[in-house]
Amino acid sequence: MKAAVETAFEAAQGRLASGTKSVEKSAFDITLPGRPLRRGRLHPITQTIERMKEIMGRLGFTAVEGPEIEDDWHNFVALNIPEVHPARDPLDNFYLSTAACGLAAEKDTHHAKPQAALGPDGKPLLLRSQTSTVQIRTMEEAVAAAEGKTPPPVRIVSLGRVYRPDTADATHYPMFHQIEGLCIAPGVTMADLKGVLQMFWQSYFGLESNEPIEVRFRPSFFPFTEPSVECDIWHDGRWMEIGGAGMVDPNVLRAVGYDPEQVTGFAFGLGIERICMRQHGITDIRDLYANDVRFLAQF
Ligand code: FA5
Repeated sequence: MKAAVETAFEAAQGRLASGTKSVEKSAFDITLPGRPLRRGRLHPITQTIERMKEIMGRLGFTAVEGPEIEDDWHNFVALNIPEVHPARDPLDNFYLSTAACGLAAEKDTHHAKPQAALGPDGKPLLLRSQTSTVQIRTMEEAVAAAEGKTPPPVRIVSLGRVYRPDTADATHYPMFHQIEGLCIAPGVTMADLKGVLQMFWQSYFGLESNEPIEVRFRPSFFPFTEPSVECDIWHDGRWMEIGGAGMVDPNVLRAVGYDPEQVTGFAFGLGIERICMRQHGITDIRDLYANDVRFLAQF
């Protein structure tokens, strides 16, 4: 055994001594392909958001953002959601709390109970449960900027995260994204709402769909729109539910300082995950947030 190893070692030494050039050549072969670098890519939800923003931008809707931590006024009161409405239930919202502070807490830090985090109005803050909050912020800003004169028309979209304590299943997740649209101007009607949604979906699915996209409204209820509808689109041979919409309730217009005798408006709020899932044939919403690169690399 020892002899065999020594012979092999000497032979290898001999090869090295005699053929430096050929050894160098075999160690580095420039004809081999390089090692591919793994490139990152945008998350499918981010891709969907970018596409929606771009299409709505072409239809004249400016993209705006709003905070994810909201107060009682913007998430409920201004949206015509009264104090007793079930949508305010702690079981349906993520209300925020802060660690107890002050002298009492210093004395007994172990047993100090967290306290509700309060907004400027003394009411609890929460993670926004819908992007409709941005409707209120946008209209308030437009009214404030007008300084008592007639506020200008508004045409915005807002795309972002919302939070609800829903149990995760194939179609629900406690954090998901919505696209909110709002159009306020004199003489805006339901026909405008339907026309905008029709054009939006035709652009969104138009490239892959040979048939015109149809939009269908079903009667529904939201406190901040009247009338309210659930909205479906005909895509790929069947109706697909995409979200809620309606004409902005006069109470909402009044709450932010618009005169409902002078302007009307429409609003819609659609779930982005479900649209993205339908587009790519994703059957479980949880796959979008499992951070599995093998899944995400497909988009
Ligand atoms: C709303 O949130 C209203 N703000 C929509 C609206 C805006 C109506 C403006 C009128 C005017 P809704 O609760 O139905 O409506 O939610 C809208 C969409 O969000 C649903 O159609 C669904 O696609 C999506 N969605 C709701 N809950 C979840 C969840 N837990 N996970 C994923 N998507 C969800």
